[in-house]
Amino acid sequence: MSIKTAVLDGVATIEIARPEKKNALTQAMYQAMADALNAAREDQAVRAVLITGQPGIFTSGNDIEDFMQRAPGQGSDAMDSPVFRFMRALLDCDKPVVAAVTGAAIGIGTTLLLHCDFVYVSDEARLAMPFVALGLVPEFASSLVVPQLMGHRRAAQLLLTGDPFTPEQAVECGIATAVIPAGEVVNHARRIAERFNSLPPGAVREAKQLMRAPQRELTLATIRTEGEIFGRRLKSPEAIEAFTAFFHKRKPDFSRF
Ligand code: COA
Repeated sequence: MSIKTAVLDGVATIEIARPEKKNALTQAMYQAMADALNAAREDQAVRAVLITGQPGIFTSGNDIEDFMQRAPGQGSDAMDSPVFRFMRALLDCDKPVVAAVTGAAIGIGTTLLLHCDFVYVSDEARLAMPFVALGLVPEFASSLVVPQLMGHRRAAQLLLTGDPFTPEQAVECGIATAVIPAGEVVNHARRIAERFNSLPPGAVREAKQLMRAPQRELTLATIRTEGEIFGRRLKSPEAIEAFTAFFHKRKPDFSRF
């Protein structure tokens, strides 16, 4: 199983564990993460959720082979796909979600951090949102949240070029909470999650809901709009060229478009 889950000392841990493919996420893995988040929400023994990866890799994002074979669909179909169910479960989670970014966080690996409450990044990690470079568009409200966090100028750098950025830049632009030495990042994140064992759970839950409420409808509407364009772009010649180039380990050539 490439998603490992456990509940220990009030913390539900979701560990991405597919190191042979750099923790690339398949539909089955999104579904497993959605189920784990929904179970954590219902389980009274759980006070916080921890999302983590493997040493050196958090996740390389959506499995590109999966992208090529199974476009998530459009319209209402898309909103019912495992990746949407996962992001919806993350948005709906009213318990604190802590991310331990153990290494590279690419594509949805960075996008999902925008919807976590605490984000600790290994000092050896690199982050990137290379959607445009893959012929795609930003997803899961990143076209809304990233410019809000850092302004259009810096958002354009991250979203339009897809350039990788450092953990320090992630903190500086508001995507991450702190940079932690690689060997300590998981334990540090776990300690933060465990703090919620001694805080009043009802107040934590209602405070989190209040923080999210003003933007909730706009976030969901943006996700729907992005999802429709993303689904269409998955089948575009630009995206096919980018995916094919990745698997042939060559640079994509967009000169004919
Ligand atoms: N989807 C599918 N397979 C992936 C993958 C992904 N997102 N990321 C890595 N893999 C696979 C590679 O194809 C390779 O498979 P192989 O051993 O069968 O050839 C294996 O994982 C190892 O990846 P590799 O690229 O050789 O490792 P690396 O250490 O040189 O580079 C990354 C690691 C994460 C920088 C690089 O794999 C990468 O850029 N991945 C794609 C990221 C991406 O664009 N994601 C989509 C965002 S929307």
